[in-house]
Amino acid sequence: MRIGILGTGNMATALGGAWVRSGHDVVVGGRDPGAAAATAARVRAAGHGALAEAAAHGEIVLVAVPADAAPDLVRGLAGDLAGRTVIDCTNPVVHGADGPMLVTDGATSVARRMTEAAPGAHVVKAFHLCHASVWTLDPPVFEGEPLAVPYCGDDPAALDRVAALITSMGCAPLPCGGLSRAPYLEATAAFAIGAWFSGAQPRHAFPAPAEAVLVPDGTVPVPSATTAVR
Ligand SMILES: NC(=O)c1ccc[n+]([C@@H]2O[C@H](COP(=O)([O-])OP(=O)(O)OC[C@H]3O[C@@H](n4cnc5c(N)ncnc54)[C@H](OP(=O)(O)O)[C@@H]3O)[C@@H](O)[C@H]2O)c1
Repeated sequence: MRIGILGTGNMATALGGAWVRSGHDVVVGGRDPGAAAATAARVRAAGHGALAEAAAHGEIVLVAVPADAAPDLVRGLAGDLAGRTVIDCTNPVVHGADGPMLVTDGATSVARRMTEAAPGAHVVKAFHLCHASVWTLDPPVFEGEPLAVPYCGDDPAALDRVAALITSMGCAPLPCGGLSRAPYLEATAAFAIGAWFSGAQPRHAFPAPAEAVLVPDGTVPVPSATTAVR
């Protein structure tokens, strides 16, 4: 796949490297041409250039900049991003006395703000949950299981493309619904980062489906649209 990366920092380097290893055609774009060239060289990307050049290159475009800069960045590139799959890996969190806190109101998301800023782009929230270092593992496998990568978005073709990208890296796609669920994925990152940084094991809070909802016959009830989930 042709992938453009907007940003030259930790996530651009970690995911760019993983995608090059997985055989993708990656171009790194940055507002600092020297930084774009250096990151591209570090990950052995096919090319580098200005932000608009990377946006125009990708059938998939990763936005790897601070959360508060992402909507304005995609607004400025809206023409280049129209019709493309745009991955939002940002975490709108600040680290406070109580741990990582969302800077959104929790009802909206950076992914939604990016969609509003560039309405022609097909935004998918993905790759935001794990620390950048996880993407340097080849492949990211834990306790014998491939890392599950949660993602959500509204465009079916964009979701299929991101699922294929996740699979190509040796990870397991974990579809989480439409973009209306992006606030939950962003809040999950705040929760998980807080747990990890305190030395806890957040995965222990999530048993396997068959063990999560204990019913006498061992089946997992599927809630209907009118059923409150307890
Ligand atoms: N690091 C992690 O482990 C991790 C994990 C999950 C999610 N994330 C999320 O991924 C995103 C990137 O994180 P990072 O760790 O890669 O950050 P980083 O290393 O600080 O890199 C940020 C990049 O964004 C660029 N940038 C900043 N403001 C910009 C603007 N207004 N327009 C264009 N480019 C701009 C910077 O360019 P300059 O060098 O020119 O300033 C730099 O290339 C953040 O939203 C973060 O929450 C990070």
